[in-house]
Amino acid sequence: MRITEILQVLSESTRLRMLRLLAQEELSVAELQEILEMGQSRISSHLGLLRRHDMVSDRKDGKKTFYNLNPDVAERSDLIRFALAEESEEEFWETDRSALSRIIDRRRRASEKYFDEVAVRLGKNYVPGRSWDAIGHFLLRLVPNITIADLGAGEGMISQLLAERAKKVFCIDSSKSMVRIGKELSKKNKLSNLTYKHGDIEKVPLPASSVDLALMSQSLHHARRPDTALTEAFRILKQNGQLIVLDLKKHQFEKARELYGDQWLGFAENQLYRMVKEAGFRKVKVQTVAKEAIEPYFETILACGEKLS
Ligand SMILES: C[S@@+](CC[C@H](N)C(=O)[O-])C[C@H]1O[C@@H](n2cnc3c(N)ncnc32)[C@H](O)[C@@H]1O
Repeated sequence: MRITEILQVLSESTRLRMLRLLAQEELSVAELQEILEMGQSRISSHLGLLRRHDMVSDRKDGKKTFYNLNPDVAERSDLIRFALAEESEEEFWETDRSALSRIIDRRRRASEKYFDEVAVRLGKNYVPGRSWDAIGHFLLRLVPNITIADLGAGEGMISQLLAERAKKVFCIDSSKSMVRIGKELSKKNKLSNLTYKHGDIEKVPLPASSVDLALMSQSLHHARRPDTALTEAFRILKQNGQLIVLDLKKHQFEKARELYGDQWLGFAENQLYRMVKEAGFRKVKVQTVAKEAIEPYFETILACGEKLS
């Protein structure tokens, strides 16, 4: 940049005011208008000139454009540095500075207001980008290198995901069709550590003390003898192995027997707690973890326990 050009740009008081402001804070055209109390076209034409001489750069943020002092040029040019460092004698600088701090204050209040408004939603349902899918994928990263038995696995939707991280996963199901579909899926997904076995959760086709985690997701209420199924889970677990049961909380929706082939209309929390304990598990915990928003408002309970020596 030629010296005469720099001098020419800096010799105009509005441009100098602008550069001083932009050295403090990035600002939009509207904000510059407000501080300098000038029309948009004047501000834009000064900005255009400053930009052509690389003294300012811009950043797009949605529909707004923010301008900054271009730090490279300002650093390279002694003249610009000098002009900005000089104690300003212009009468404008005090008013510019207080208008600037008013704008920065207003931006902070707008951001606080937004978070105040969404604070209630953040804790409950709404955070942009947060979903159970995303949380599920994140939690799956935490699955350790263990052997899992998915008892009453169905086609193995959960196991297909677990098998991506676990050492080995066995899917047990009494429906031949589910086992066939599951096998096809694991072949398609190239999951060589996922094995499907046709069998009953009341007589699990796995040896004693062979798995680290026994999982029953929405299968226990299908068992004729849920207590036997839990005893079987205990048998196949290694010492310190874990049981996780996800099932329906006791409900009154009789049609579930016909619609979903359910043997039991869910379980009361204390009923499941007793059954898990009586199967031999320790450190048993049962809690309600979800409630559906539509009728018949099924609730999900989660029970867990450990096989301790
Ligand atoms: C509601 S599905 C749950 C599937 C899977 N666990 C899930 O959470 O997506 C219940 C599954 O349990 C199976 N099932 C029912 N009674 C069973 C039994 N006695 N032994 C093994 N599997 C059984 C059914 O064939 C069905 O695939």
